[in-house]
Amino acid sequence: MKFFVDTADVDAIKELNDLGMVDGVTTNPSIIAKSGRNILEVTKEICDIVDGPVSAEVVATEADAMIAEGRKLAEIADNITVKVPLTWDGLKACKVLSSEGTMVNVTLCFSANQALLAAKAGATFISPFIGRLDDINLDGMDLIEDIRTIYDNYGFETQILAASIRSTNHMSDCAKIGADVATAPPAVIKAMANHVLTSKGLDAFLADIKKADIKIV
Ligand code: G3P
Repeated sequence: MKFFVDTADVDAIKELNDLGMVDGVTTNPSIIAKSGRNILEVTKEICDIVDGPVSAEVVATEADAMIAEGRKLAEIADNITVKVPLTWDGLKACKVLSSEGTMVNVTLCFSANQALLAAKAGATFISPFIGRLDDINLDGMDLIEDIRTIYDNYGFETQILAASIRSTNHMSDCAKIGADVATAPPAVIKAMANHVLTSKGLDAFLADIKKADIKIV
């Protein structure tokens, strides 16, 4: 499973990228607003750090305007992925931009039927939002499973980019189901390293190291 990092925090991206944990980056208007930076500038900086796809989202809602914005975003770098919402206009924009060779991430997906439409419209990525389904007492992971089945049934090449990930369990569940990509905030990716028995085991080793005065260098 590829890891995308869901942030515009350049320092966090650099740290994870240096460790080989970043296969791409996703942003959205809320993330850009939180960064307090100009969307074109911060996106360019991220594209210079990361080799993989970097999603930048349009802000228009009408197809022609989304296409114009998508073309402008695509000029930033070769690894730009234009993110469009899963609306009828977003699907139109997806079709045009994909036909021009631009990678498109169709976002705000909450149903298997929406994912089917995005694949038909040539999306490179579909972004089902797990956490926001969980928030309303539905099971976000069921959606990932349904989309995996449908895409595999028909050989769609659109990649399932599991989004709105809130926990480390979401990450392992996505990997078990076979999501192509999971995008998560840096804190979730870092938390994957934690285990209570690792901490406990290390504490015991450290106590023994101190007692025996073990030194290596
Ligand atoms: O990639 C989409 C993601 O940023 C949404 O996450 O936590 O706002 O639902 P969240």
